[in-house]
Amino acid sequence: MAKSPEDLLIEAAISGDASELSSLLSTGADPSSFDASGRTPLMHAAERNHSDAVRLLLDAGAPWNALSPSGLSAGDLAMANSHQVSLDLLLDAAIRSELILGTIARRNDEQTLDKTYLDSRVEFGEDRLMDEESKAVMMAWEGPLMEAHARAVCGNGGKVLNVGFGMGLVDEAIQRYGEVTEHTIVEAHPDVYARMMRLGWGEKKNTRVVFGKWQDVLPQLASYDGIFFDTYGEYYEDLREFHQHLPKLLKPGGIYSYFNGLCGGNAFFHVVYCQLVSLELGNIGYSTQFIPLPVKDCLAEDVWEGVKHKYWQLDTYYLPVCQASSDADD
Ligand SMILES: C[S@@+](CC[C@H](N)C(=O)[O-])C[C@H]1O[C@@H](n2cnc3c(N)ncnc32)[C@H](O)[C@@H]1O
Repeated sequence: MAKSPEDLLIEAAISGDASELSSLLSTGADPSSFDASGRTPLMHAAERNHSDAVRLLLDAGAPWNALSPSGLSAGDLAMANSHQVSLDLLLDAAIRSELILGTIARRNDEQTLDKTYLDSRVEFGEDRLMDEESKAVMMAWEGPLMEAHARAVCGNGGKVLNVGFGMGLVDEAIQRYGEVTEHTIVEAHPDVYARMMRLGWGEKKNTRVVFGKWQDVLPQLASYDGIFFDTYGEYYEDLREFHQHLPKLLKPGGIYSYFNGLCGGNAFFHVVYCQLVSLELGNIGYSTQFIPLPVKDCLAEDVWEGVKHKYWQLDTYYLPVCQASSDADD
């Protein structure tokens, strides 16, 4: 049986034959086809660092975000094999496409259920806070990360704002910084807020709890020396929207950080989103540094037992530290 143009495309991607690839593409071979093993021509080319083939396939519209049956994208294969040239091409294509389309982490129809999160019940366990769908709102394994976020945003002392109380891990850590003169917490979920009140957060010295969605309580907020943002049931667009308020909320010299869980199930997509946020913060005058923190040891075998969505599967957490570019230059 004669081979299909798509079979030939796969062969050319594997051998790195750019002229054959180019002629197949120009005669209509589909660059988004999968072979019998569930891989695309782009995955094969990226895995072997055939960078001309990678470029041709991307230019022909090959999907950078297609996943193999084991959940790997072309970018993951380039990254795992340290193929920097192919990786850069894929990153560039991914960022350009996400800037326009936002296909990975932005709102989509599948996520509409989460829109009701604030109206549904939550359940507090010893090591987790769960929503009604058995998805984890917050988990104790993140404790060391929250400590590190608190250290970053309390670096200047003064007034510190945290958006999203959850289990209160970051807030407990913030309370330990004596240099913090005012600690403001915004929390929107009625059950979480009620628990905060039961635990005495409403009476703590120099601490102010603001109940409501951050979107609604912005007029009640001041400007701060440090800000941490970590909500749940929201999307990339909400984070972006919050960032638009930073020039008002963050004092000159202030430090901003957010929970960097975007695309925490795929190493390449995560890198794309780290770069995208950094680029978008850059556009409004902030520079972002990512501090790598190993998290493998935080994630014991049984940590995800009973949790519907494993929201983090990577070995390294990249803690973002953002400052106005003019401050960072000083
Ligand atoms: C992941 S948890 C925060 C965990 C927290 N960083 C900690 O250390 O435990 C997210 C919290 O944000 C709250 N939240 C969700 N949407 C919000 C919004 N729009 N405004 C304020 N809080 C929100 C949730 O109810 C939840 O308590």
